[in-house]
Amino acid sequence: MSVSSATQPMIYNPPKDFAKQAHVPSLEAYETEWRRSINDPEGYWGEVAAESHFFKKWDRVLEWNPPMAKWFAGGQTNVCYNCLDFQIEKGLGDHPAIIWEGEPAAADGTPKQQVTLSYRQLHARVCRFANALKKLGIKKNDRVTIYLPMVPELTIAMLACARIGAPHSVIFGGFSAQAIADRLTDADSHHIITSDGGWRRGSVVPLKSNVDEACKLVDKVSKVIVLKHCNNDVHWDAGRDIWWSDAIDGMSEDCAAEKLDAEHMLFLLYTSGSTGKPKGILHTTAGYMVYTRHSAKQVFDYKPDDVYWCTADIGWITGHSYIVYGPLQNGVTSVMYEGAPNFPDWERFWQICERYGVTKFYTAPTAIRAFMKQGAELPKKHDLSSLKLLGTVGEPINPAAWAWYNEHIGGNRCPIIDTWWQTETGGVMITPLPGATPTKPGSATRPFFGIDAAVVDHSGTPVEPNESGLLVIRKPWPGMLRGVYGDEARYRKQYWSEIEGCYFTGDSARCDEDGYFWIIGRVDDVIKVSGHRLGTAEIESALVSHPKVAEAAVIGFPDEMTGEAIAAFVTVKSGVNVSEDLKQELRQHVSRTLGAIAKPKDVRFTDGLPKTRSGKIMRRLLRELATTGSVKGDITTLEDLTTIAKLNGEAS
Ligand code: WTA
Repeated sequence: MSVSSATQPMIYNPPKDFAKQAHVPSLEAYETEWRRSINDPEGYWGEVAAESHFFKKWDRVLEWNPPMAKWFAGGQTNVCYNCLDFQIEKGLGDHPAIIWEGEPAAADGTPKQQVTLSYRQLHARVCRFANALKKLGIKKNDRVTIYLPMVPELTIAMLACARIGAPHSVIFGGFSAQAIADRLTDADSHHIITSDGGWRRGSVVPLKSNVDEACKLVDKVSKVIVLKHCNNDVHWDAGRDIWWSDAIDGMSEDCAAEKLDAEHMLFLLYTSGSTGKPKGILHTTAGYMVYTRHSAKQVFDYKPDDVYWCTADIGWITGHSYIVYGPLQNGVTSVMYEGAPNFPDWERFWQICERYGVTKFYTAPTAIRAFMKQGAELPKKHDLSSLKLLGTVGEPINPAAWAWYNEHIGGNRCPIIDTWWQTETGGVMITPLPGATPTKPGSATRPFFGIDAAVVDHSGTPVEPNESGLLVIRKPWPGMLRGVYGDEARYRKQYWSEIEGCYFTGDSARCDEDGYFWIIGRVDDVIKVSGHRLGTAEIESALVSHPKVAEAAVIGFPDEMTGEAIAAFVTVKSGVNVSEDLKQELRQHVSRTLGAIAKPKDVRFTDGLPKTRSGKIMRRLLRELATTGSVKGDITTLEDLTTIAKLNGEAS
């Protein structure tokens, strides 16, 4: 563990006007409440949960049998009810819940499709669709796979599932058939909701045909509900497929929300880990509900008239927690945009902010770097004066991008919150509170309420300030994952065995003398490309499924734009000739198998891969090679020294 030289960065205090109106208006207020939340978690979370709607109050706030947690056990609630009915009861029936804009647009960026749904309208659509799901035979506990573009029906489908107690498993629309098939199999899901297609940079992504392919790979899907969105031609299986519009035809707009036990499974979301098999991260009802509501309110400092835009895709956890469940439970307006940030050009995001008067904006550092490259003239053309707060998520933000965001988007007046969290944590864990926490660009700052974060060494002992170590969470929190679907052993091993008694995040970090956390990066085989989480093992198995490949090792290496990029080291089968064409073929092969986001930036052919005597690929050496161009690091455990000599000399 190294001690970094702690040069003191710039500190930005929360703007005074912002602090005055904020839910948490000062650092002292944050510290007092944080201490209380840590000293008396049950008291704290019991009080917070009392602001949610429960059909039946819980018996006990927390039952903790490490690493198994039950939050609000004995209670009954429904997340969909909290997002819709409860808001309508509070008088928000006519308030916009969702403002959606489709991608197709005129050359000047004027959208061809816009939809605004009030809380009451959204409620009606969700109920209708929930009745349709029931009519199709979907019951409580059935896992429903959702593979849709960023359209209002995606939110409707998720909420309808939550309403009837059918856990959803949303698959990112950028994943391809094999990825869908793997997730269908793991979740043992028999129902899919999809659309004919989705718009991306002016083209139609053929979602339905990806589903058709996936259904050929797994023989278990009994029903596919298909939304007509792009009007592209689709193959039709009359016994299996049904149009969304036919499914809801004649359905009532009343559907009572199921009274669900606090620990009822709300959803699975598949994410990458260190093996090739994606993990179904399991979140349950009450804890996730309370944690996303509370964190969204405090972190984004929601006020009733906020028009809030999170640019993530709902296929990732950020969209689940902070496009759907967090904002709607707080009665704010959540903006949804279907397409690419640069369609028809790089002004689209700023046009959307201006068009709807967006007040709070949450995006990924990769997007900020991409905008930065296009120049400050583009945002300058638009009135961004409605913005009050800016956020980032998914990867560390470099100070230059932070400064650009602050000046050119936030007009030097908006607090910036750099939020650290994970699919597994359900909600934001380390973050500034915008009216309270002075920020240091590049640091996610301090833990959220109830979060006991620490940087420790391998024995679990906290390291000194500014020394790097492993980031752990020492206490359970309501939004935590409850398991890896169908694999308790993996849950225990992956998250709870590395450091005794702690949740291990897989990240390394340092904590400075002010208690500010600086995330360094993953210590496992997870790569973050443009903030998207990918596993090296998944990409490797896609590569070796190509008939010409014998062996492959994949690593992430730093990239100015995407944070990290993928490099693949490949050995081919004997007799195969390596060529530029084969490189391109392999890149395409990964793209077809997993999805375009997993396409390696760089493919290098090599005679052999550096391995330890026990056969483990030494990715550290490959990373060094991809980053610096040669290997000089410690190679004492390497089995065959000639491999490194060859890699140094020959990798091309
Ligand atoms: C990384 C995304 C630095 C981290 C919500 C974590 C970050 C992984 C930040 C989880 C941040 C997320 N600064 N790194 N603000 N936020 N990460 O599951 O490595 O897609 O472990 O969840 O993203 O990625 P996931």
